[in-house]
Amino acid sequence: MANVAVIGAQWGDEGKGKVVDWLASRADLVVRFQGGHNAGHTLVVGDQTYKLSLLPSGLVRGKLGIIGNGVVIDPEALLSEIARVRAQGLNVSPETLRIADNATLILPLHPAIDRAREASRGDSKIGTTGRGIGPAYEDKVARRAIRVADLAEPETLSAKLDELLLHHNTLLAGLGAPVFEKQALLDRLLELAPLVLPYAEPVWERLDDARRAGKRILFEGAQAVMLDVDHGTYPFVTSSNTVAATAASGSGMGPASVGFVLGIAKAYTTRVGSGPFPTELLDATGRLLGERGHEFGTVTGRPRRCGWFDATLVRQAVKVGGVQGLALTKLDVLDGLPELNICTGYRIGGEIFRRLPASPRAQAAAEPVYETIEGWTDSTRGARSWADLPAQAIKYVRRIEELVEAPVTLVSTSPERDDTILVRDPFEG
Ligand code: GDP
Ligand code: IMO
Ligand code: MG
Repeated sequence: MANVAVIGAQWGDEGKGKVVDWLASRADLVVRFQGGHNAGHTLVVGDQTYKLSLLPSGLVRGKLGIIGNGVVIDPEALLSEIARVRAQGLNVSPETLRIADNATLILPLHPAIDRAREASRGDSKIGTTGRGIGPAYEDKVARRAIRVADLAEPETLSAKLDELLLHHNTLLAGLGAPVFEKQALLDRLLELAPLVLPYAEPVWERLDDARRAGKRILFEGAQAVMLDVDHGTYPFVTSSNTVAATAASGSGMGPASVGFVLGIAKAYTTRVGSGPFPTELLDATGRLLGERGHEFGTVTGRPRRCGWFDATLVRQAVKVGGVQGLALTKLDVLDGLPELNICTGYRIGGEIFRRLPASPRAQAAAEPVYETIEGWTDSTRGARSWADLPAQAIKYVRRIEELVEAPVTLVSTSPERDDTILVRDPFEG
């Protein structure tokens, strides 16, 4: 039985949460494998709206949620999110949520460094979410991070805090930011320990059992391929690998367990934060997409930059992300536009490219080459079958399929869970 990994194929906020929620009805477990509470996934179910950052979206369907070792966990954010969704009626307990005991923790000094560093960057800000994601991943690879299991060992916490503070207080002082005091951090971690540890376990064992029992595992990616620390628009990226391969290493399973890779792309493009965006529209059409699509960051509330669908970018994400099928979301936002542009390549210094080069200078200079396609006047909002779509909308989807070199296996036509056209069940491979 196939498993499924869902990843973003643009710059995030493609609607992964909606798609994961929809697919979760067919899964037994839902696993987050990278990122942290920089993610913001909005799920609309009837008159309830759930906004999840760290918790796997499958919890809304009552499916077992797992936070894998590849995730960076802010324990304060975790506990407040649990409290928030419990107040909305969701059952989150150590029976429904398991957390990898070898996952890295985000401490209060991480967002402090994140923000101080951003402030010091002036005009060349990355536009991070300010939640300490980058500094926490840095500590992980520097081998000084505090991990979930350390919460059970006060002496380990104490020794690791000494090492962390030696490093970070020097940096904070250099950036002119307030430094941290060890005892307060230690006391707080010891208070949090009994609240977090009941969720902790070696999740790789549970996942191995699930695999052997033929259970269906849904891997829920956060961010997107163009924010991947290797494959994205570096340095305007997040600090984790967001491609589907990470589903294995970020949860403790082998690569063969990842299964079908479903890439999610919006029918246009958005980006929050700084960095290159060749098809960005700074005109009335860009504003219209933003208004119609309610394009405001779930986490930070920042307006998202909007632009035309970039098939060159998504094709690249399909290749490096290992995408086997594409879910195209927010088609309804394009209803009524007389003409649509699709980017089929970039003009850079007089040459045409069918990929975004690695050079930041080339990325910033990339001018989109467009193919124009006629729009449609009828509404696609709420469509649940191909027969509900105007012919021109189907043509648009078909053209995208050709250009990105991946089949569109799912189309989403509203924020609502069931307003979805299924072409091919990803769990069937
Ligand atoms: P994620 O980070 O990829 O999970 O995406 P977000 O939840 O941050 O942002 C996607 C937004 O689009 C959310 O507000 C969704 O409710 C909404 N959404 C998802 N699919 C559709 C769709 O097909 N049509 C419209 N109009 N909105 C959608
Ligand atoms: P979801 O899962 C969109 C962006 C930030 C910034 C860059 C680095 O909802 O799609 P970070 O705080 O990660 O160091 O910021 O990455 N970013 C996202 N943009 N959606 C997200 O998550 C994002 N997570 C991070 O805006 O440009
Ligand atoms: Mg989001």
